[in-house]
Amino acid sequence: VRTAAVLTAAGSGSRLGLTVPKALALLDGTPLVGHAARRLVASGVVDLLVVTVPDGHLAAVRDAVDDALRDVPGAHAVPVLCTVGGPSRQASVAAALAHLEPDVDVVLVHDAARALAPPELVAAVVAAVRSGSGAVVPALPVTDTIAEVEPGAGTGRPARVVATPDRSRLRAVQTPQGFDRALLDRAHAAASGRAADEALSATDDSSLVALLGEPVVAVPGDDAAMKVTTQRDLAVASLLLRTVAV
Ligand code: CTP
Ligand code: MG
Repeated sequence: VRTAAVLTAAGSGSRLGLTVPKALALLDGTPLVGHAARRLVASGVVDLLVVTVPDGHLAAVRDAVDDALRDVPGAHAVPVLCTVGGPSRQASVAAALAHLEPDVDVVLVHDAARALAPPELVAAVVAAVRSGSGAVVPALPVTDTIAEVEPGAGTGRPARVVATPDRSRLRAVQTPQGFDRALLDRAHAAASGRAADEALSATDDSSLVALLGEPVVAVPGDDAAMKVTTQRDLAVASLLLRTVAV
């Protein structure tokens, strides 16, 4: 085993608002976690899959993943481990990392919420890590102007804009993200010892690496790797699935 994929699926999906966790939300009859697992394994570059699961849903997620992998060539050779996640995404990833054997040298971290991230994207991220980058993210240019507002601003109330960064240098960062295993372990160890308010600003694994002062590189992302957060996103994903063969 050399490349492990951590698939985070332990969230509740509060913004999606279903009675089941988001990972079990159906897209064209298949749970999101199944779609994500299929595409990770179909890349052919993943040797082991660790899925983080909401407490109480181990059997349902395991069945969803097994079903989705049934007809993927080579999937029988990829062990799947399902483990209960933690209270935050970061804690869930840390719990998954704790299960990895010493022979794993590259780790992908992917969100079940980005269910349609294509196998080619998975392979491109791993290839970039294997060619020497310690931390690799798929990223897309942003199309909106992005404004930084005053600290503490919420939504709904007018907020003072404090900066408008040059859009040409901004990117929207996706998953799967790929890491040298030792670097990712170090980033999570440092994060678990950090003050909670500091940790809040890290919404993914690449930002934990950046907090160590280590370089992160961006490779071209993919529209299909969009994150399903709301019902609207689920409708968009369903349309993508029907129209652009992802
Ligand atoms: N996740 C996780 N463990 C948590 C929280 C989130 O493994 N404690 C996973 C989710 O399952 C998801 C990914 O991290 O695949 C990104 O999180 P997000 O999109 O925020 O999903 P949820 O937390 O489930 O959704 P919400 O924030 O709307 O409740
Ligand atoms: Mg969340």
